[in-house]
Amino acid sequence: MNPVKYLSLGVALLFAVCVQAETRSGLNGMVASRSALAAQIGSKILQQGGNAVDSAVATAFALAVVYPSAGNLGGGGFMMIAMADGRVMAQDNREKAPAAASRDMFLDAKGNVDRNLAVNSLQASGVPGTVAGLLDALTRYGTMTRQQVLAPAIELASKGFPLNDDLAGQFAENLEGFRAHPASLAKFTHDGMPYKAGDVWVQRDLADTLQRIADQGRDGFYKGKVAEQIVKEMQGNNGLITLKDLEQYQPVWREPVHGTYHGYDIWSMPPPSSGGVLLVQMLNMLEPYNLGKLGYGSTAAMHLMIEAQRRAYADRAEYLGDPDFVKVPAATMVSREYAKQRFSDFDPDHATDSTKVGAGKWPEESLQTTHFSVVDKNGNAVAITTTLNRSYGNRIVVPGAGFLMNNEMDDFSSKPNTPNSYGLIGRDANDIQPGKRMLSSMTPTIITRDGKLVMVTGSPGGSTIINTVLEVVVNVLDYGMSADKAVSSPRFHHQWMPDNVRYETGAISAEVAAELAKMGHKGLSGSGFGIGDANTIVRKDGVLEGVSDPRNVGGVAGY
Ligand code: GLY
Repeated sequence: MNPVKYLSLGVALLFAVCVQAETRSGLNGMVASRSALAAQIGSKILQQGGNAVDSAVATAFALAVVYPSAGNLGGGGFMMIAMADGRVMAQDNREKAPAAASRDMFLDAKGNVDRNLAVNSLQASGVPGTVAGLLDALTRYGTMTRQQVLAPAIELASKGFPLNDDLAGQFAENLEGFRAHPASLAKFTHDGMPYKAGDVWVQRDLADTLQRIADQGRDGFYKGKVAEQIVKEMQGNNGLITLKDLEQYQPVWREPVHGTYHGYDIWSMPPPSSGGVLLVQMLNMLEPYNLGKLGYGSTAAMHLMIEAQRRAYADRAEYLGDPDFVKVPAATMVSREYAKQRFSDFDPDHATDSTKVGAGKWPEESLQTTHFSVVDKNGNAVAITTTLNRSYGNRIVVPGAGFLMNNEMDDFSSKPNTPNSYGLIGRDANDIQPGKRMLSSMTPTIITRDGKLVMVTGSPGGSTIINTVLEVVVNVLDYGMSADKAVSSPRFHHQWMPDNVRYETGAISAEVAAELAKMGHKGLSGSGFGIGDANTIVRKDGVLEGVSDPRNVGGVAGY
């Protein structure tokens, strides 16, 4: 069957946004991404006979070229793979603290967190994991060669591509941040002048780096010229990453978080991301209440979901961190028994005061990120969320190598109970230690039923990521929405501390907001349309529906 392409305003228009959700349906394969160019590359790989992993790896390398605020070589992320034969894998390619990192490295003389150092410096960079992760996934589960999957990214970097309004606008907005770093200024401006939409953007240094990776595999990045370029930049600017840190970096295959919800199997990312644990924990708390019956947007449904979010995020702050360094009670946190007990103080008529919500107990015992989803003709699926942390990371391009470095170290808890850039607090479980991975909220998620693919989703958005994924999932599974509507519908967010409910215009009606306020929910403020960017694919009756989130430009490509 020929693909049927249609553009839909979905429900987005109802919420007065001027961007469109692009949706596409097809039978044979689909890629939904923040970048239309990257989605087209991923789809082309599928049409050339590649599987979902080949396509995802090609899409990820393409994003490093065409979506530089978050697509990356100098960052890290997480990948879920569900093969049609039933195997489900979770890969952690999160950055690691360099060996020279230390717990108090971002504290000033008065013991306060130096926010500028934690975000805008080379000390803010963790050891990048993306390249090692993508290549390892390709070797284990892909069918194509490195050269095949890297070729489109290399071509786009070396020949260039015309900038759209979105990218030209982003570069202009970030100009001041780039100005302090000559290699960044050279990459993102035309001799110091902002690029305009339509200008062809060529990235020769990046093309060379990508070619080295294609020729030499991980050694083309973690050893030799590129590694030396990274370390030279570090040494000249108080950065901590050494050749040894780079050489020793390895991605880790971890046991996926698994839960069930109304008969669906939920597969998501385990620690060092908090995403999968919190998603399953919240679904476990919600399942007994049947959201579908309560009704989308009703006071009862909103109250229930906010209360689940409050408790889950309180647990995040206390218990979650890198499982290679701290004992993380993930199995307990995703158990139904724990959810029952944790939610036993839920009051259907009153909000809980966050200051009175400690972490749960049991018997003894963010333009800044990007997510894309891929499904191939055999039903293999990949969900990848990847990031430099803040938009454009620390805005420092490695001279000669052409890529930005991350500022992921700010995802550690630099000081107990002191908010990071996302307002998230943490404690010892997420303190800085040499070689440790910083806690994340990234939630790449795959849902199956009876072994068959149902949906692939995930989102950027820092602390809001997990709630975005939760809401897209319940929109499909509880409210029976189409992929388009599930993704376009406005979102809300509560993260325990600060104790307030943020929501997009239209997510909570004035009437429901008034009722929630009466129940004791605080800081109800609804404006704009910008929580998350959940590029999602849903499979129903054998047909794939891919959606690029209308909150941003992006693209879906399939056949
Ligand atoms: N850098 C955002 C996250 O990993 O949650």
